[in-house]
Amino acid sequence: MEKIVSLCKRRGFIYPSSEIYGGFSSSYDFGPLGVEMKNDIKKVWWDEMTKFHENIVGLDAAILMSPKVWQASGHLTAGFADTLVECKLCHKRFKADEIKTKKCPECGDELMEPRKFNLMMKTFVGPVEDEASLTYLRAETCQGIYMNFENVLNSMRMKIPFGICQIGKAFRNEITPKDFIYRIREFEQMEMQWFCHPKDAEKYFNFWLNERTNWYLKLGIKKENLRIFEVPEKERAHYAKRQIDIEYKFPFGWREIEGVHNRGDWDLSNHSKHSGKDLRYFDKETKERYSPHIIETSVGVERSLFAFLCDAYQEIKGGRTKTTKPTKEVEILLKLNKKIAPIKVAVLPLVKNKPELVKKAKEVYQILKPHFVCQYDELGSIGRRYRRQDEIGTIFCLTTDFESLKQDDLTVRDRDTMAQERIKIQDLVKVLKEKL
Ligand code: GAP
Repeated sequence: MEKIVSLCKRRGFIYPSSEIYGGFSSSYDFGPLGVEMKNDIKKVWWDEMTKFHENIVGLDAAILMSPKVWQASGHLTAGFADTLVECKLCHKRFKADEIKTKKCPECGDELMEPRKFNLMMKTFVGPVEDEASLTYLRAETCQGIYMNFENVLNSMRMKIPFGICQIGKAFRNEITPKDFIYRIREFEQMEMQWFCHPKDAEKYFNFWLNERTNWYLKLGIKKENLRIFEVPEKERAHYAKRQIDIEYKFPFGWREIEGVHNRGDWDLSNHSKHSGKDLRYFDKETKERYSPHIIETSVGVERSLFAFLCDAYQEIKGGRTKTTKPTKEVEILLKLNKKIAPIKVAVLPLVKNKPELVKKAKEVYQILKPHFVCQYDELGSIGRRYRRQDEIGTIFCLTTDFESLKQDDLTVRDRDTMAQERIKIQDLVKVLKEKL
């Protein structure tokens, strides 16, 4: 895992937050490549939900909501709390289920009795910091969806079954954030809530589990690194009647990347009860009025990005080139799916000291830049530059050479096969769009 963390920092994917002040509380910043990859993951997910499925619409609800939302949802009670243990001497706190002994893992002293710790992040709205102005940063984005169930239903004339999807920040005061970006306090969720008739809930649960598992496989995650885990009743989230975690085999073990939940009528009934607003659905055809059941799919952007990075990371001893003698060097290849690789195209002049080649490469870069996320690179030997691009998963490397000056074309090198073909510069945008 250290190698991936190091690559992320070295090549501009992920940096520790507030680093010049020694970092802050397991927070991370996404660098130029990280933000491109994050945006790609969000786009692929959004398109999947809103374009390739029927009857799903999007939403962008506020992070700050009435604290009554969290009272009704059960997040302010024991339902959304971890059990923590605290050291009597150094006062470090740990998640109880991660501590194997009765001694503090940091200083070896005795631990206090376990107690519940609520994960909601508190904040105050307005100038006075008192109970009346207390609210919370949302811990899951879906509550904003439930708040707008009726608005969307009426304004968009939706009919059950239908879905509402949302991407946005969520916050949890995790006791022990850890494993790089796996468990952090501020993260983004991509959540879809599918509202259906209670009798269809199980059918849709299976449907969505299948869709979501396939989504990872389509984006290149290896089958052997993905599995599902049916969460037993006593370990389920407080709202879940049924819960299956989609798990990825991280370097530190199998861990959840996405949850598929049958939330039953927990949310809409509780919000009806607490708000006094009847959120039942009226089916005009059958004349039936009922509280819809909800099937939820919920994944963290960072967690899925981390899984994609781990899965794509390869080290090739002696290098990839078979035409020359193997060197002792280890080459890194980030075999990301083309939809989520942050840089799609790199433009490279064969050599830096031939102004005509540099000029040609810069012209090509300007042509491609509005269409694809591109990099221009002229530093070092061409072999070294190919390796630099392989390391960040760039799909195509385009090289201008002396032939280019005569034929107005260049070589296009495929990251995975390393095969090169010549393409006319005037056809580049069209050809690359087809390939990508
Ligand atoms: N609305 C349901 C819900 O929030 P969850 O299982 O608590 O369910 C869903 O979270 C997903 O959100 C997780 O599978 C994970 O991908 C992401 N997630 C949750 N807590 C996280 C954290 N502390 N850091 C990073 N991602 C997190």
